[in-house]
Amino acid sequence: MNDWANSGVDLHLELTAGGGTRVAVEGALREAVRDGRLAAGTRLPATRVLAADLGVARNTVADAYAQLVAEGWLTARQGSGTRVAAGAGAAAQRAAAAVPERAGGERYAYDLRPGSPDLSAFPRAAWAAAARRALAAAPNEAFGYQDPRGRPELRGALAEYLARVRGVRTEPALMVVCTGFVQAAGLLGRALRAEHGARRIAVEALGYPDTRTILRLAGLETVSLPVDGDGARVEGLREARADAVLLTPAHQFPAGVPLSPTRRTAAVAWARAGGGVVIEDDYDGEFRYDRQPVGALQGLAPEHVVYAGTASKSLAPGLRLAWLALPPALLDAVVAQKRLADHVSPVIDQLTLAELIASGAYDRHVRRMRLHYRRRRDRLTAALAERAPGVRVSGIAAGLHAVLELPPGAPPVAYLVSRAAQRGLALQGLDALGGEEGAAGQALVVGYGTPPEHAFAGALEALCGLLSAIR
Ligand SMILES: Cc1ncc(COP(=O)(O)O)c(C=O)c1O
Repeated sequence: MNDWANSGVDLHLELTAGGGTRVAVEGALREAVRDGRLAAGTRLPATRVLAADLGVARNTVADAYAQLVAEGWLTARQGSGTRVAAGAGAAAQRAAAAVPERAGGERYAYDLRPGSPDLSAFPRAAWAAAARRALAAAPNEAFGYQDPRGRPELRGALAEYLARVRGVRTEPALMVVCTGFVQAAGLLGRALRAEHGARRIAVEALGYPDTRTILRLAGLETVSLPVDGDGARVEGLREARADAVLLTPAHQFPAGVPLSPTRRTAAVAWARAGGGVVIEDDYDGEFRYDRQPVGALQGLAPEHVVYAGTASKSLAPGLRLAWLALPPALLDAVVAQKRLADHVSPVIDQLTLAELIASGAYDRHVRRMRLHYRRRRDRLTAALAERAPGVRVSGIAAGLHAVLELPPGAPPVAYLVSRAAQRGLALQGLDALGGEEGAAGQALVVGYGTPPEHAFAGALEALCGLLSAIR
């Protein structure tokens, strides 16, 4: 009989030398509870199992358990074994939960940096129900190696959804499910470079710096298009001698403006005239507040425009789910790159998203979130109008972030960002998203979608407190 299989959690403990074995076992268990690796209620391994694993006497483990029961860390009940006590290590866990940690490892009470939706609004129940239905319906072959484009259920659901909601003209066969837009950008860059002879890609002068780096790593030279109130200045594409261009037409990231109708037409005309490729990053295209979203650029020229969507704003970045609708001429090259990258994106999440969309739950979630973010946007603009009237707010017709232009004479953005950090508020300057040409002015990019609901009022108060001193 395999003891591990029947004995509560699989537990890794590091015993430090000194102080005797029992003390070391106690210390390691306390540490595991304190840092949250052992959550309240977790059943510990039977003493003989842990003893065998650690190479110590069974009594040593039994004594350590007894000591920790006496101290209140563990509970022991006949028949249900030894468990981590409710409330043990709770103070440490509460402290960790109250302060969000982002990829950089920094900790803040409030986070208004752009890039993340409200993670507390993830539709857990709907996702779990969709996952259950999807798993029940999945054929066995869904769990095997398969088509690098991804599950047909999801490509089918997306093709229908994107046609209906974003005016995308595609078919399931032309879609590739990717592990986030970050992966999609790399696949496209390598496909364009390796199989289409592309050398240069134009990118918006304001943008997400990693994307630029990813395209360069794919072997492409990047050239910048300035951004103004009408979006990227695509008139410069011919002169830039670009083979492709990456745009955020619905809501320029981070300036927040849509690409003007004239420039949409100009971008498509450029692509048609010289065989150029437009990559349309539609990262938050579903969130438009004042009127119906402008349809995807892809709908104007499906032979020349790659449509790229993601679940990172509509659901959660942690899903790492994104999708491409490709021109037929690019399909094979991108599929080849996808196969080399990771063969196929995780299938069970694809099936779940397909079910979420097909059941209508995805539409309902997006509608609910649109209302949620619009209310937040209105609270942000009202609070700033009252408390910091010198600050000009723009880019707010859509998306989850706004640009706050500081008045002349305001302190430098870097100073404000560091003042905010001292008060526990994470902020982002536009300059951090300004490429290399210093395209950004004196402005903050505020991700009003980021905080969980319970923290939004506090975040707003902290922001207004900081900016109210600026006239
Ligand atoms: C401009 C832009 N595009 C795309 C994405 C989404 O990337 P991913 O799908 O890899 O999460 C983001 C995320 O912040 C973004 O800012």
